[in-house]
Amino acid sequence: MNTVKLRRPDDWHVHLRDGAALAAVVKFTAQRFGRAIVMPNLKPAITTVAAARAYRARILAAVPEHMRFEPLLTLYLTHDTMPDEIDRARATGFIHGVKLYPAGATTHSDAGVTDIAKVYRVLARMEETGMPLLVHGESPHPEVDVFDRETHFIDAVLQPLLERFPSLRVVLEHITTVHAVEFVTHARAGVAATITPQHLLLNRNAIFSGGIRPHYYCLPILKRERDRLALLGAATGGNPRFFLGTDSAPHSQASKENACGCAGMFTAHAAIELYAEAFESAGRLDRLEAFAGHFGADFYGLPRHDDTITLLKESWVPPEVYDFGDGALVPYRGGESIAWRLAESGAT
Ligand code: NCD
Ligand code: ZN
Repeated sequence: MNTVKLRRPDDWHVHLRDGAALAAVVKFTAQRFGRAIVMPNLKPAITTVAAARAYRARILAAVPEHMRFEPLLTLYLTHDTMPDEIDRARATGFIHGVKLYPAGATTHSDAGVTDIAKVYRVLARMEETGMPLLVHGESPHPEVDVFDRETHFIDAVLQPLLERFPSLRVVLEHITTVHAVEFVTHARAGVAATITPQHLLLNRNAIFSGGIRPHYYCLPILKRERDRLALLGAATGGNPRFFLGTDSAPHSQASKENACGCAGMFTAHAAIELYAEAFESAGRLDRLEAFAGHFGADFYGLPRHDDTITLLKESWVPPEVYDFGDGALVPYRGGESIAWRLAESGAT
């Protein structure tokens, strides 16, 4: 197969940042995806409908004029979030999820939740109104091994939460382990997961190949090869619980190449192309369209797109750095080749 035509996909988990950084990156997402679930972990975090409305306007203003792109906003859950805010969010029509960051788990998560019981009232309102809970599923406690944080969170927090709120719709974001794949596969109805391109293409050896490689550091951290294979099986298996979410998370070169480097990989410049590589490696390019363009839309109760994009089997080399407002941005595979290319117009 040298050409793959897909119903236009959506990205169900992306970080677009704000200001000059937003202006530098949003075009990459808008070129490929019709919609994206935009993460709220800005400084300050997007915790209210008013903040989400203003952020949405800034995103739309940064999208190049000829591109059609719909940002789907999210609220950042804190101990101060009121149940009424959920009703207001529902009423906007542009807020599609509420994000749970365990405090300390990842970039800009310090305003997040330290004790899940403190947000039960909000979760109950979300359950009632059908507002999805999007979960960064890692236990942040220092005594939990960094490679076990997802597993620990699933067993200690998520499983009891799904029982306490039996109709709450939940997306376990950017899953990374065999355990998460098995958990989501067998979970009750209303539970789904996103999978990133880097977790389909890389294992944790990438972080240490020939030296320490900060550009392969993201959270949840890359795991073992057997985990990667389980994720690839889940993504390409045709199960509608698993869908595309890049977790493209741009940070400046200076903050990545640093004694205390930030977590996050930037993949938006080649997102769907990278998934095509992963699906091709499993001999399942035929399943890419549903993973990228059907299952997420169905889960979120949104229509599938009716236009398409075309991918060509022609290798290309992304630049080593992109502009990132004040600094530079090192993309995944910068200066290295990628096997699939997005056809020029992006659409056919
Ligand atoms: C994300 C970021 O930089 O905002 N980083 C990451 O490593 N994925 C936050 C997140 O999704 O954990
Ligand atoms: Zn993320």
